[in-house]
Amino acid sequence: MTIDIDRDRLVREIEELALISDAEAPAVTRIVFSPTDLKARAWLIARCETAGLKVQQDAIGNIFAKWAGSEHGAPAVGTGSHTDAIPNAGKYDGVVGVLGALEAIRSLQRSGFRPKHSIELLMFTSEEPTRFGIGCLGSRLLSGTMSSDAARKLLDKDGTSIEELRGTAGFTGALETVKLPGNYYKAFVELHIEQGPVLERKKVPLGIVTDIAAPASLRITIEGCGGHAGGVLMPDRRDALCAAVDTVATVGICEVFPGAVNSIPSRVNLTADIRDTNLARRDAVMNEIKSARQSIAVKRQVSIHEELVNADAPAQCAAAITETLSAACTKYKLPFIPMVSRAYHDSLFMSRIVPAGMLFIPCRNGYSHRPDEYASPEDIERGVIVLAETLATLAA
Ligand code: GLV
Ligand code: MN
Ligand code: MN
Repeated sequence: MTIDIDRDRLVREIEELALISDAEAPAVTRIVFSPTDLKARAWLIARCETAGLKVQQDAIGNIFAKWAGSEHGAPAVGTGSHTDAIPNAGKYDGVVGVLGALEAIRSLQRSGFRPKHSIELLMFTSEEPTRFGIGCLGSRLLSGTMSSDAARKLLDKDGTSIEELRGTAGFTGALETVKLPGNYYKAFVELHIEQGPVLERKKVPLGIVTDIAAPASLRITIEGCGGHAGGVLMPDRRDALCAAVDTVATVGICEVFPGAVNSIPSRVNLTADIRDTNLARRDAVMNEIKSARQSIAVKRQVSIHEELVNADAPAQCAAAITETLSAACTKYKLPFIPMVSRAYHDSLFMSRIVPAGMLFIPCRNGYSHRPDEYASPEDIERGVIVLAETLATLAA
């Protein structure tokens, strides 16, 4: 079997998908269930169908594109990632794992390989937390990590319910049907850009992920006392934004109310994102935030409300998958290193129900979640070769 990647077509497809965006090129914005997300999904489905894959979508909009195996009823080998993108993102996050998997499948088809186990490409709904405040929605539901009751309560920031949004997008089935039966998959592999600088610094083309860090996210609201920006001096204030800047965490959202240049902030909504591969250490930081919150509330005379959005356990990748990935790298004489994923991925949740693993390729300067995110065609091709070889081994 010779695996021959059509690198030019894959790069063209990545560029083409990047143009389906709510941000001006080179930036990409594709928020789940927006008209742009739906257009990107239709574009992807058309490409999967052209490759002869049978496409299905579940009630939350996860896309499954199957290359049927010869052994009827045997568990499938899954691969894929996401195509949604945070505001002002780049072209490669998630997309390399979806279009790279499609090209891996096409290359296996061209090679004459015929799988015994079906090979199924997945595009997970809302890996990014932009719309509903929680990431990996599709894989949380698929794996049963999130209950359908909990999912039904989700609202976007305009207060529109997920039920209404998914219905309008055409996904009308009951959320209860999303959870996969226990033995649906035999294995799951996700190809992704590293989103950090390690591979580039070490000049190694591939990373085999051993562990995925445990993410947690808090929604914090600080209520102070508003007023005139000139008339009230600092010692007399209960300024909610002064309280916010004392908080220690990665704060990615900080909304100041009323948000006028000459008005003392009366309310601040912020999010804190805390992660570690070690659960005890991650939880210790969360406890520190809690005590800091209490002392800041006293010091600043504000009330602070904290809501836990998610606190997930870390995942270890399955030895069966990391070993298959290593063997594929060795076969193609491609150097690799074991790595920890500090970012979360749908594989974190897939690993709860199926032996799962991830393969990283370098991205320039380690940049991700920004418009100048870049992975070279050569690095993408190496990732897709190893993915294709790994899928072939697992599906044989
Ligand atoms: C995923 O996009 C993450 O924030 O790790
Ligand atoms: Mn991302
Ligand atoms: Mn991603």
